[in-house]
Amino acid sequence: MARKFFVGGNWKCNGTLEEVKKLVSTLNAAEVPSEDVVEVVVSPPFVFLALVKSLLRSDFAVSAQNCWVRKGGAFTGEISAEMLVNLNIPWVILGHSERRLILKEVNEFVADKVTYALGQGLKVIACVGETLEQREAGDTMNVVSEQTKAIAEKVKDWSNIVVAYEPVWAIGTGRVATPAQAQEVHSELRNWLKVNVSPEVAESTRIIYGGSVNAGNCVELAQQPDVDGFLVGGASLKAEFVDIIKSATTKQG
Ligand code: 13P
Repeated sequence: MARKFFVGGNWKCNGTLEEVKKLVSTLNAAEVPSEDVVEVVVSPPFVFLALVKSLLRSDFAVSAQNCWVRKGGAFTGEISAEMLVNLNIPWVILGHSERRLILKEVNEFVADKVTYALGQGLKVIACVGETLEQREAGDTMNVVSEQTKAIAEKVKDWSNIVVAYEPVWAIGTGRVATPAQAQEVHSELRNWLKVNVSPEVAESTRIIYGGSVNAGNCVELAQQPDVDGFLVGGASLKAEFVDIIKSATTKQG
């Protein structure tokens, strides 16, 4: 079965109430391919999740940007997976490089979060990706496969996971991976899943690309056979996100 194109908008730590309402109105008014062609998920900061969920069109879903690693309790400042489930938030982004690098979330901690969130019934956008230093040292696949392996060691069912390959050097820099660079890592990652998890999981798991995706570069990236969609940062705060959603049609026919 073909992998459905997936476009996620990671709003990161951005937005005022007014800006969020405006962005949702823009999305609600947009003409985009049908749900059969593309799955669209937007990820506002925690404080806007309930509002966005209440206002957003029903064919788009919402995602949190993080959640606590285990059951909630005395963990000041954290948000638990149970709370997201309670609010009917279906998705969570875990292991984003901004959390790995700035908040020092290591592979095993991210894998524990993924496992716990899946166990609570959430769907997970699990992020992996190398730094520029690691790429230049020729370590890209080692890094990405170690990050994926930590998850694969704990998770048995991959049906609710989307893997986001986000090279750190491409995030927020305007320096997008070339289509060939993205395809190379996506294809190797898929092969890693084939060898280390199963051919079925490799075939069905969506591997999406993130890092300076915009309206101008999305079509060429989407044409790559192993690029199953995008996780968009900066451009997801603008009307151009709609054009990125439309790049899903590239996969048709
Ligand atoms: P940019 O699209 O701003 O480079 O961010 C990508 C990203 O980190 C999405 O999670």
